[in-house]
Amino acid sequence: MCGIVGYLGPLKAAPVLLNELKCLEYRGYDSAGVAVIENGRLSVMKAAGKLSNLEALLADKKPSANVGIGHTRWATHGIPNDQNAHPHTDSTGTIAVVHNGIIENYEELREELKGLGYAFNSDTDTEVVAHLVSHEYKVDKDLLKAITRSVKRLVGIFALGVVSQEHPDRIYAINHHYSLSVGLGNDENFLASDSMAVRQYTNRVIKLEQSEIAEITAAKVRLFTFDGVEVKRSPIALDTSPYVIDKCGYKHFLLKEIHEQPLVLRQTLSKYLRHPNHPIDLTIDHLTPAGSQSANYGVHLTDEEIKGLTRINIFACGTAYHASMVGKLLIEELVGIPVDVDIASEIRGRRLLCNESTLAIAVSQSGETADTLAALTEAKKKGAYTLGITNRADSHLAQLTQNLIVTECGIEVSVAATKTYLAQLACFYLLAIYLGERRGTLTPERAKELKIKLNLVPAMIEQILARDEVIRETSVKYAEAQDVVFIGRGLNFPTALEGALKLKELSYIHASGYAAGELKHGPIAVLDQNVPVITVLVPGLVYEKTLSNAQEARARKAKMIAVAVDGDEQAQRTFDSVLTIPPVDELFSPMTTVVPLQLLSYFISDYLGKDVDQPRNLAKSVTVE
Ligand code: F6R
Repeated sequence: MCGIVGYLGPLKAAPVLLNELKCLEYRGYDSAGVAVIENGRLSVMKAAGKLSNLEALLADKKPSANVGIGHTRWATHGIPNDQNAHPHTDSTGTIAVVHNGIIENYEELREELKGLGYAFNSDTDTEVVAHLVSHEYKVDKDLLKAITRSVKRLVGIFALGVVSQEHPDRIYAINHHYSLSVGLGNDENFLASDSMAVRQYTNRVIKLEQSEIAEITAAKVRLFTFDGVEVKRSPIALDTSPYVIDKCGYKHFLLKEIHEQPLVLRQTLSKYLRHPNHPIDLTIDHLTPAGSQSANYGVHLTDEEIKGLTRINIFACGTAYHASMVGKLLIEELVGIPVDVDIASEIRGRRLLCNESTLAIAVSQSGETADTLAALTEAKKKGAYTLGITNRADSHLAQLTQNLIVTECGIEVSVAATKTYLAQLACFYLLAIYLGERRGTLTPERAKELKIKLNLVPAMIEQILARDEVIRETSVKYAEAQDVVFIGRGLNFPTALEGALKLKELSYIHASGYAAGELKHGPIAVLDQNVPVITVLVPGLVYEKTLSNAQEARARKAKMIAVAVDGDEQAQRTFDSVLTIPPVDELFSPMTTVVPLQLLSYFISDYLGKDVDQPRNLAKSVTVE
């Protein structure tokens, strides 16, 4: 979603801001802009659409300023156009503001400011901040005090960047339940809502905590609470990672990330699973990156606390929710604790039955998903133990939880989640075995067998990836479909949901995933010869029943596609097309069955000429509720 950047130092600000914004592109946006102060004058340049439009504008104007803020906007209030793009300025054109999040009381403030004679030029909630700061600035000509008074009047969660023509040596950054990092250089400083954006310049950052204001000059960073009290904080070192933001020869980031999955799994598994004969160790304090503030790395529950758990609640959205659905089944199967998994946004306004013997798990690739953070906060208030599973050790989620499992994926650039899904699944396998070992629900022999099988999965995925050409040829046969139905049972019902989500995100084809047994309870009505039905079919407890459900679809003349294991002759006879995977134990199958479905969606999207890495309307980090 929206991204904030800033720079002040000896370099020309515009190219630096642009480089920073490019790192945030993957988060999703629909317009971009910068405000710089040049020769004592504030100048704003912004453009709807891709960053290349802003780049062209900057190439034309050639600002040589050394200070500026920038923004990528994902529209919430007002359509994506030049006018609504950030930065927004006050009526004097001397103060500029960029903003992530939502100002919930903006209408009330807008009316008040209009009453005071301020004229508005956009439909955004952000513009009220520019006028409010301007109004407060008139009181004592103290910008920090004016900002402090202003932000205290804002309701909602937000991050802001502010520059003023009258103070060209500084940028103000404000964080209120959001995320902002200041990157520290030598006589230069950087600002970014995602520390990824400053990593190309420095790996030393100061993260703003909740309700804090940073006053940033080229030489110094000072932090203040909303009550005006100065706070001191040491910088942290950003994690180093073997992954780079580069397509490395692949046509799209998505394809590269799908192909990175064996590596990602090996990294995540090897971090916690030393040897099949040893119990899984989720504490891993020794792996905390140097200088990191994440004292909560790993799972630190005592044996007594683990044995005392009566319930687990998992909160997540989208793809992370699908991984969590698999997690629920694994934990219930291997540990025997009842697990509820909820779409995080559904927790709002509901009576959440958590208590001191509950483990609340929030799963989020970005660690910034507002709904997931809100659900976890609610569980925390009720006294639950908290565990975060995220790909971002520097995220808001990482700060919120007592226990933290960090997936080893590197940055996931493509908006559609693939490798982080696999890594989240891996974490649930590790967690389920870990809890099973600690609670004694798994014998050492069974635990060892599970660990050996888990370690075999990356090689199986490599085999599937080697078949990508066959998957491509099969996929494009179905690329013209208007509606596609995915079905699966048990552990592969979430796979069906994830397959459908990937297809609709990437190709914009309407797709739905169903528990295979549900087909006859309604969805079967949509089936005819124009609707492909994709069945996830793996030998095991639900094989025969899934096959029967597929037959019901076949009887309605649907086009039949299966993900099935090598040598499944029944599948070859029943389906028009079969995407094969190596034979796999049913328990571990969600990690392999999803891979052909990711590739299928990728190839269809590419064939249809869609924007594979940045599908329309989507954002990588969903920071509004
Ligand atoms: C799907 C996708 C989204 C995210 C969802 C949650 O490809 O990327 O559905 O999974 O927005 O995001 P995180 O995991 O960052 O909380």
